[in-house]
Amino acid sequence: MTDNDHTHDGNPTQSGNHTHGHAHGHTHGHIHDPDFDWAAMADLLELEGETHSPYVQQALAELTHLAPRRILDIGSGPGVAACRLAATFPQAEVTAVDGAPELLARAGERAGRLGVRLRTQQADFPTGLAGLGPADLVWSGQALHHVGDQQGVVKQLAGLLEPGGVLAVVEGGLPARWLPRDLGFGRPGLQERLDAAQADRFSRMRAELPGSVAVVEDWPGMLRAAGLTDARSRTFLVDHPAPLADGPRRFARQSLERSRQTLAETLNAEDRSALDRLLDPADPAGIDRRTDLFLLTAKTVHFGTAA
Ligand SMILES: C[S@@+](CC[C@H](N)C(=O)[O-])C[C@H]1O[C@@H](n2cnc3c(N)ncnc32)[C@H](O)[C@@H]1O
Repeated sequence: MTDNDHTHDGNPTQSGNHTHGHAHGHTHGHIHDPDFDWAAMADLLELEGETHSPYVQQALAELTHLAPRRILDIGSGPGVAACRLAATFPQAEVTAVDGAPELLARAGERAGRLGVRLRTQQADFPTGLAGLGPADLVWSGQALHHVGDQQGVVKQLAGLLEPGGVLAVVEGGLPARWLPRDLGFGRPGLQERLDAAQADRFSRMRAELPGSVAVVEDWPGMLRAAGLTDARSRTFLVDHPAPLADGPRRFARQSLERSRQTLAETLNAEDRSALDRLLDPADPAGIDRRTDLFLLTAKTVHFGTAA
């Protein structure tokens, strides 16, 4: 589990000396689901993290009472939030934890570029979480819904905390919107229909996870059931108005490409052809060239404190 543990301290001369051959697959938790090849999603995850990143900063502003010495980012992906944690708490040892070594390598490269101190550790959830603690802050962004037993994994993470330590779980919020209701072609409301198809797909994904347990997704309730106190949720608006800058625009393109790939079968022919038109780089009404694209979403962070 720990054969690719390493530290990235922002010094390029020290960040390249740690890779051992790693035969571990990167389809943890989704062994039968090619839609979740996490390593192949590295660009999308990094763009998404960057596009949404203001919310991480706002959420961390809620934690100024902490002086954490050890921080874990569980399901860090390519490390956008982990690097933000490292920049916000420079005195802390921050460890990005993920099942995909390729994404941890991205996190390390990012830390090097930004000049922040970041350790990375490969671990598959839930089994690999034992022994990661103790920590003063455990952050987990949009990763726990990929574990079959969500209440079980919340309990495990709560158990990693020092007394007074905080668990911050990013789940829920609102789906991102970037398309105008009426695109000028196709049937209006395409994005709402994509969201509905995605919600069904999400339910199927959860039902098919190994050890899947149905639970009411009341995250503050789950934090309380794990023995944490002062459980509360805060929601942060992410608002990139039109015209979209290059980064959020590339995120919108890659997301739409993924929707085209994963949801196509559930859409009708009219919606599929609208998507094709949006994805055509040569089309002036396509996603690369329209001036009316915006990006609006809301991210919810659930906090709980160890007694
Ligand atoms: C949707 S991404 C979230 C990335 C980042 N935390 C964010 O907020 O943007 C989910 C991450 O969890 C990791 N992951 C999902 N299921 C996992 C499992 N069972 N074991 C280990 N890592 C897992 C994936 O590799 C991926 O990096």
